[in-house]
Parts: sequence; C-alpha cells; structure tokens
Amino acid sequence: MENIEKVPVHVSIIMDGNGRWAGEHGMERAAGHIEGVESVRACTEAAVKYGVKYLSLYAFSEENWGRPREEVEALMALMFKSMLAELRNFLDNGIRFIVLGHRERLGDELNRAIDDCMEKTRDNGRLTLVIFLSYSGKWDIMQAARRYAMEILEHPDEAGVRLEMDPDGFDRYLVTAGIPDPDLIIRTSGEMRLSNYMLWQAAYSELYFTDILWPDFREKEFLSALLDYSKRDRRYGKVK
Ligand code: IPE
Ligand code: IPE
Ligand code: MG
Repeated sequence: MENIEKVPVHVSIIMDGNGRWAGEHGMERAAGHIEGVESVRACTEAAVKYGVKYLSLYAFSEENWGRPREEVEALMALMFKSMLAELRNFLDNGIRFIVLGHRERLGDELNRAIDDCMEKTRDNGRLTLVIFLSYSGKWDIMQAARRYAMEILEHPDEAGVRLEMDPDGFDRYLVTAGIPDPDLIIRTSGEMRLSNYMLWQAAYSELYFTDILWPDFREKEFLSALLDYSKRDRRYGKVK
C-alpha cells in the first residue's frame, strides 16, 4: 500500500459532473447520478483503507432544488435506495452515517430512513461518512446565527458571556458541530468554485480540483488527491 506521509483527518468532496458524464456516454442525466453512487462506494472504501476518519460528500445543494422536478425526484429516490442498500455495509465496516442539511425540506419517508440509518450506525467509529443533503453554507451560517440569537433572547442574564464568544464557540451552532473542519476539499469536473459549500468550515481547507467527472473518480483518483495533500504546507497565516 502507498505510504502517505500526512493523511487528512477530514476529506470532503464536491461531487460534480454526473450530468456531463452521462452526456458523454449518450445517456440521460439520471444515469450519471446512478454511476456516481459507485464512486461514493469506492471513495468510502478508500477512505477506510487509507485511514481518513471523516469523509463528507456534497450530494445536493439548497440551489439544486431549482432543478427540473423529475431530476430532483430521481436524486431523492436514489438517495433513499442507496442508503438502505448500504446500511449492511456501514454496520459491517464500522461506518457512522450522518446526513446534514435543511432536513425540513426532505420528504417524511426519506427523513425517517435517514434517522433510522443514523441511529443504527451512531456508535461506529472507524469512519464517519457525512452526506450534505439540501445544504448550503449560507443557510448553515444563517440557521446558526438564528439559534445563537434565540439562546441570547432566552437567557438574557448570560447575554454578556455569549456575545463575547469566539469563532470556536460559534462552531457549535453550525450543523457540523462536533465534526472537525475539512482538511481537504476536492471538487471534480473541472469547476473551480465552492458553490455555497461549507463557507465557514472551509476557512483553512486545502483545495484540490480535478477535471475527472465524479462517476470516474475512484480509488486511484482519491489516492492522488491524498498524495497531493500530503505535500501541502499549511501555515494558517503564520510564519514557519
Ligand atoms: C453533480 O453532478 C450532482 C449534483 C449536483 C446533484 P451534476 O448533476 O451537477 O452534473 P453536471 O455538473 O451537470 O455535469
Ligand atoms: C455543486 O454542484 C453541488 C453539488 C455537488 C451537490 P452544482 O453542479 O450544483 O454547482 P454549480 O451550479 O455548477 O455551481
Ligand atoms: Mg454540476
């Protein structure tokens, strides 16, 4: 096995290019999403193999609700089906499964299945697999600010202390509370933007862009990103 000098604790992927992959293969966009699930499986296995502790995947953004209804429905149905199909694998391989995002926008049936899968895998510790569903960075910061403001309103006696809070204290209001910030953010398909992903948490993430389309991004490509990361010099604004 390849010897990686510095393995990122948290790898996050903006999985992009399913539609273009399908187009290149003369298929409907949905076929690209279905093939993309194989890449999710491959990267999850690779994350376990190389000792990554958190793998998070941007699966559906708040803005993606604006896609044609059939595509949105196909994506939600695929999420539902894949999650149920993978539960056994999560249990056998010590994978904790978490979904983060604006869950109120998801259907009841999907939400129940997500809760069930999260509950059954909650004590697993080998890898935490986080799926961002109906998520956007601005939404996350807004909901955190709202909850923060509510706490101050509900406990005016502690307002002084709370208003003095530092950025680390604010972290616990974000949906990612308890999950370390991503060390490495990968985006596939040649696009070089964050598309409203983890705007707060990505403050010091290393970014890795590749032209490979998501359905073609498998263990080899995952390993290339890890090797690239291991050569990075993270300075956090300091002088070394
Ligand atoms: C990523 O692939 C999957 C989602 C955003 C849900 P796309 O569907 O964005 O594929 P392209 O970018 O159109 O090729
Ligand atoms: C980003 O991909 C969102 C996800 C991967 C879930 P998009 O395809 O939606 O992003 P844009 O529209 O190209 O910025
Ligand atoms: Mg896209």
